[in-house]
Amino acid sequence: MAGQKKLQRALAGEVMETPPIWMMRQAGRYLPEYRATRAKAGDFLSLCYTPDLAAEVTLQPIRRYDFDAAILFADILLVPQALGADLWFETGEGPRLSTITEQADFDALKPADAIHDHLAPVYETVRILARELPEETTLIGFAGAPWTVATYMIAGRGTPDQGPAHALREGNVALFEALLERITAATIDYLSAQIEAGAEVVKLFDSWASSLSDADFDKYALAPCRQITQALKARHPGIPVIGFPRGAGEKYAGFARATGVDCVALDQSVDADWAAENVQIDGCVQGNLAPEHMVTGGQALIDETRRIVRAFSKGPHIFNLGHGITPDANPENVQLMVETVRGMARG
Ligand code: CP3
Repeated sequence: MAGQKKLQRALAGEVMETPPIWMMRQAGRYLPEYRATRAKAGDFLSLCYTPDLAAEVTLQPIRRYDFDAAILFADILLVPQALGADLWFETGEGPRLSTITEQADFDALKPADAIHDHLAPVYETVRILARELPEETTLIGFAGAPWTVATYMIAGRGTPDQGPAHALREGNVALFEALLERITAATIDYLSAQIEAGAEVVKLFDSWASSLSDADFDKYALAPCRQITQALKARHPGIPVIGFPRGAGEKYAGFARATGVDCVALDQSVDADWAAENVQIDGCVQGNLAPEHMVTGGQALIDETRRIVRAFSKGPHIFNLGHGITPDANPENVQLMVETVRGMARG
């Protein structure tokens, strides 16, 4: 039943004495214990596909900080790989994939329901975590949103402006939309399988939503998020969904109402007071603290943390960063953030 663990209570709309807290990329290279386990696995993808080790790195930040939620350790690019794309990581540079530029590339992809054999180790990681997490810790599953995943599949890598994906949308909209539909269907199946394995909440990462103009945002960020949310809630009544249309700006307003997500994750460019009035009126919000504070720390970290908690104190709120913590962050600053949030109980 929702309403027991802190994270689900906030997602259900409860205003709490102090907000539950977790952190994007909380299992990551800023932690020495993560680096040690990753070295044991060999490379990043082997870590993702070795359930015992993936579960271990998921648990590390819970042991260290007692966060209210653990996020499954995996990557949004495992779905393209399960659909048949080649995927590898260039050290120090990031992901590389085989590209999708013409119909034949798309025709070579597998159907959406053929992803599960490839992703079985991820489901096993979820099952281990469902057993091993502390009782009060929520397990979050996740996937990339179709637009963001498509930008990597089309370009074969991360790009500053998602140029290749925009070019395909302009040059061959039928192919572009067919790709988005394939990813959407695969994402529904993938998240459903995570929920069946024990994920209690799911989050959709649309990291490049910022580069879609207004009409395209509605068609390619908002509509797929609504479709995935509705399908998941039909199959798994009551499952909370967090949407993260990163960089949506003013389009954050109304996003929860239009898509049916239970919580909207805010990046750090959004003004907290504006979001309290325009986004939080529809329900829970999450995020907003600039990840740079995890590098710089000090009084500025304390002040910003308090400002954000106060700005969102009249409605449901989950404390988090506006984007993932970076490898150069200091683990002690994370501790300071957690203590600052938990020390703010209203008297
Ligand atoms: O702790 C967690 O948040 C859960 C695990 C997680 C990872 N990636 C692990 C990871 C999650 C939720 C993601 C999401 C993800 N992956 C996104 C969306 C969120 C965002 O950051 O905008 C995107 C765009 C990706 C794709 C991706 N994966 C890139 C571009 C990179 C390279 C950049 C980098 O940080 O190195 C990755 C690699 C990656 N995914 C790492 C981790 C911990 C670093 C890999 C390593 O150990 O070397």
